[in-house]
Amino acid sequence: MAGMKLAILISGRGSNLQALIGAAAEPGYPAEICLVVSNRADAGGLKIAAAAGIDTAVIKTGDFDSRDDFDDALDARIRESGADMICLAGFMWLLGESFVHGWRDRLLNIHPSLLPAFKGLHVQAQAVEMGVRFSGCTVHFVRPELDDGPIIVQAVVPVLPGDDTETLSARILEQEHTIYPLAVRWIAEGRVRVSGERVLVEGGDPPEQTLISPAV
Ligand code: GRF
Repeated sequence: MAGMKLAILISGRGSNLQALIGAAAEPGYPAEICLVVSNRADAGGLKIAAAAGIDTAVIKTGDFDSRDDFDDALDARIRESGADMICLAGFMWLLGESFVHGWRDRLLNIHPSLLPAFKGLHVQAQAVEMGVRFSGCTVHFVRPELDDGPIIVQAVVPVLPGDDTETLSARILEQEHTIYPLAVRWIAEGRVRVSGERVLVEGGDPPEQTLISPAV
């Protein structure tokens, strides 16, 4: 079916990509994936995309003289694909201001913490170390600062006594696979508006914007 066209950017495993592919295959889902780009040739997600018959491209940061040159090549390839929106899904590269402004409010990221807490890398380990009682994941519009931008949806999970990085990461990841397709659906249905730093979801009850994983 015709729908919003997505370019998905990855660097690794691709489980969020897999979740988006699964959602897009459901009847009536309002978005489709037109391109998957990796900045690493060995990203597992490339095989997932190829198996689903999706166009893939590898654009390596090391092949360019500057960050801007890389961003420009990436931008050109994505525009050539006809994508309406970009989903960062484990893409380990900080896109420059010009790229980010060019896709303002059409560039999403998923991050495995309850932003604005725990930005950057290894955030599940930090959550365990800090002894927080809850963590989770966030889908947000991208702004030039790392892990910054208006929040579309978050899911909360408990941090349990005895959790280590692996068990907490797995609990969070399960929720990532739910909220990323959900955020894309809301946007593709035209229900999402950015107002200042906030996202308003039309027709969504406030509780629908925060999914709390079942008690364990
Ligand atoms: C996820 O935890 C995502 O939140 C973070 O990078 C990881 C990517 O995992 N940005 P995958 O490649 O989607 O499995």
